[in-house]
Amino acid sequence: MKAVRIHEYGNRNVLAFEDAPMPSITSSEVLVKVVAASVNPVDWKIREGYLKEMVPYSMPVTLGWDVSGVVTEVGFDVTRFSVGDSVYSRPDIKRNGTYAEYVAIQENEVALKPLTISHNEAASLPLAGITAWEALITTAQISAGQKVLIHAGSGGVGTLAVQIAKSRGAYVIATTSGKNKALVESLGADEVIDYQTHNFAEVLSNIDVVFDTLGGDIQESSWSVLKQDGILVSIVSPPSEEKAKELNVRSAFVFIEPNAPILEELSKLVEQGKLRPVIGAEFALKDIVKAHTLSESGRTVGKIVLYVGQP
Ligand SMILES: NC(=O)c1ccc[n+]([C@@H]2O[C@H](COP(=O)([O-])OP(=O)(O)OC[C@H]3O[C@@H](n4cnc5c(N)ncnc54)[C@H](OP(=O)(O)O)[C@@H]3O)[C@@H](O)[C@H]2O)c1
Repeated sequence: MKAVRIHEYGNRNVLAFEDAPMPSITSSEVLVKVVAASVNPVDWKIREGYLKEMVPYSMPVTLGWDVSGVVTEVGFDVTRFSVGDSVYSRPDIKRNGTYAEYVAIQENEVALKPLTISHNEAASLPLAGITAWEALITTAQISAGQKVLIHAGSGGVGTLAVQIAKSRGAYVIATTSGKNKALVESLGADEVIDYQTHNFAEVLSNIDVVFDTLGGDIQESSWSVLKQDGILVSIVSPPSEEKAKELNVRSAFVFIEPNAPILEELSKLVEQGKLRPVIGAEFALKDIVKAHTLSESGRTVGKIVLYVGQP
């Protein structure tokens, strides 16, 4: 089968579109024929070797940890899926990924794809959607009427976070640049702050939840807008616990794992019309270098999808 693998860490030149062995499944796994995958910043961070202490790979490794496709084989112990099911997943990043024509995935990391959207759209949801859900629902436990600030409302995680927060009745404020303002408003944000013309820290206060998708100076400036006992949740770097204590607020860092129950919740929201995927760009799998170039630019709108094969 065709796959995009790396044989060593490095820049985009190490991405190889090549023949790779067909994966085989264990009794608890399903084999998925990949229709679409999507690109996340973690893909090029892994490619560069930034996560090698945390996740040591034996090379070559297939990148990509988002998929929508069709089950073509089920292990002996698999009970939830049958051949022919349309499914989606964010599989374990410690294993070969989804930039490939086929991928073997543990049954408990897979969910049925939402019925109302295409495979390309479904492939854009798992990693970013689980992340937004874990940060806002599981960790911050947002509730109706709370003021939630979402940084980078136009990004892969941000576009879903805005909609998930709205679906819980929160008052949503998001940051983005002027060119993406209309998009973020169309996702339901109550206020959109253009970070190129306004400093959010000067115009906001009394925020219940800040969702930090950017880290660095943005994380640092975010403390000051929180109300007492509010929470700063980051997916980029662990916020200082000392600082949180000093300011009488809470903080958390989220790094996601595969999670089929959350995928099932995302499917419900999609089917209820409360969550729509935003795809900023689509590429064929062989054009992976272009896709990584765009992701590394930091200017992605919504998600980058890779189309791989027919259902
Ligand atoms: N811990 C975890 O489990 C986990 C999971 C998923 C993602 N992440 C991390 O979370 C980060 C975000 O991921 P992502 O997929 O959402 O990234 P992304 O899609 O690449 O984010 C791009 C977006 O960021 C916006 N942006 C850039 N600078 C900004 C600023 N200063 N203020 C407001 N918006 C800004 C851009 O909008 P403009 O073009 O308008 O600037 C663009 O739309 C990445 O570092 C990723 O690795 C972590």
